[in-house]
Amino acid sequence: MSILEVEGMDAHHGLLHAVRGVSLSVARGETLALVGANGAGKTTLLRTIAGSHPATLGRILYDGTDVTSLPAYLRVRRGITLVPEGRRLFPDLTLEENLLVAGRTGRKGDWNVERLYKTFPMLARLRKKRAATLSGGEQQATAIGRALMTNPGVLLIDEASLGLAPVAVDLIYESLAAVVATGMTLVLVEQDVGRALGVASHVACMLEGRIVLEGPAAKVTREQVVDAYFGLGAATPA
Ligand SMILES: Nc1ncnc2c1ncn2[C@@H]1O[C@H](COP(=O)(O)OP(=O)(O)OP(=O)(O)O)[C@@H](O)[C@H]1O
Ligand SMILES: [Mg+2]
Repeated sequence: MSILEVEGMDAHHGLLHAVRGVSLSVARGETLALVGANGAGKTTLLRTIAGSHPATLGRILYDGTDVTSLPAYLRVRRGITLVPEGRRLFPDLTLEENLLVAGRTGRKGDWNVERLYKTFPMLARLRKKRAATLSGGEQQATAIGRALMTNPGVLLIDEASLGLAPVAVDLIYESLAAVVATGMTLVLVEQDVGRALGVASHVACMLEGRIVLEGPAAKVTREQVVDAYFGLGAATPA
């Protein structure tokens, strides 16, 4: 059964119709890469799923339960956690303090500081450093770790690699592969189609608020994704 289902969802910014009739189904353990050009509606879709932005139409089901009317903090308690673009750590707290604060807001589960440090040895080495003094890649890894501390059933990540040096991007994707290996369900917004296809089991491409291509990553060609990305003709996987 799907852990996350989005049914006919619309979202607006004022008069701007940013998400248009989006339906999505994410199975447990799946990694869905959500790609699309600037302004396609990826962030709005992710924030609407997380409850940080209101849906104007449609439903969001988590584990079969309608969560559309729940505020974001109650969706976190159900199991929907968003790593927002820009990371948003508490700059004056240490890395470890950032993790511990998040641990209080989520569900009970297997993720705790010890398990995180085993999965991401890099975080263990930096645990006493103030978040403000961490590099961009270290901050992004901390933001992902912090989200895992809420014991999510589905983890939504917006632009994990944005603005990072290539070596830091490699590190983040290694960490994401480790998270995928634990059986976590992920929805990953990514500008870099190659990176996204490298880690994803499924891919969905947004264009002007709509999903114009979706399917298992193995069945979708790079050309189809690029065509969908730029709106070049109908692209449906075989
Ligand atoms: N706070 C806002 N107020 C008004 N319009 C907004 C706001 N945020 C986004 N939009 C508009 O909504 C549309 C979708 O934006 P969104 O940020 O969801 O796209 P995106 O796919 O995440 O883009 P990017 O790749 O640049 O992050 C765009 O036309 C954008 O200009
Ligand atoms: Mg965005």
